[in-house]
Amino acid sequence: MIAFIFAFFAVMMFLQPSMIAGSKPPTIKPFNFSGDLREGLRIMVMCSIMDGEGPFDFRWFKDGAPLQTEKGHFSVESFNEFTSILTIEHLNALSNGNYTCRVTNSAGTDEKSDVLIMKGETR
Ligand SMILES: *[C@@H]1O[C@H](CO)[C@@H](O)[C@H](O)[C@H]1NC(C)=O
Ligand SMILES: *[C@@H]1O[C@H](CO)[C@@H](O)[C@H](O)[C@H]1NC(C)=O
Repeated sequence: MIAFIFAFFAVMMFLQPSMIAGSKPPTIKPFNFSGDLREGLRIMVMCSIMDGEGPFDFRWFKDGAPLQTEKGHFSVESFNEFTSILTIEHLNALSNGNYTCRVTNSAGTDEKSDVLIMKGETR
C-alpha cells in the first residue's frame, strides 16, 4: 500500500513538466484555397500549428463531416508533429466545400476552415 502511494506520487511528479508543457492550447495558422483552382489540379493545404505544445491530434472535416481519405481523392499526411497536409488529388466539382482542420492537445482545441470553390463551377 505504501509502495503504491509512493509510486502514485512519483508518477505525479514525473507527469508535472509535461502537463505544464501541454497547458497551452494549439493555435492553427489560417490556410486558404486561393489561387488557380481548375479542374484536375492537385491542391494541397497545410494545417500548421504556430503555438501550443504537442502531442497534437489532427482531424480534417469537409462540410462538418470527417474527411474520408480515399485513394485517388483525398489524402492526409503528417509532415511533422506540427503540420498536417491535406491533398485533393484531382480537383473537380465534388471537391467544393468547406474544409476544416481541427487540432487538439491536452489543453484545448483550435480549428480553422476555408471554403473551396472551384472556378468555373460557381454558377
Ligand atoms: C490566402 O493565402 C494567400 C497566400 O497563400 C494570401 O496572400 C492571402 O491573403 C490569403 N487570403 C486570405 C483571405 O486569407
Ligand atoms: C466552415 O465550417 C466551420 C466549422 O464547421 C464554420 O465555423 C464556418 O462558419 C464554415 N464556413 C462557412 C463559410 O460556411
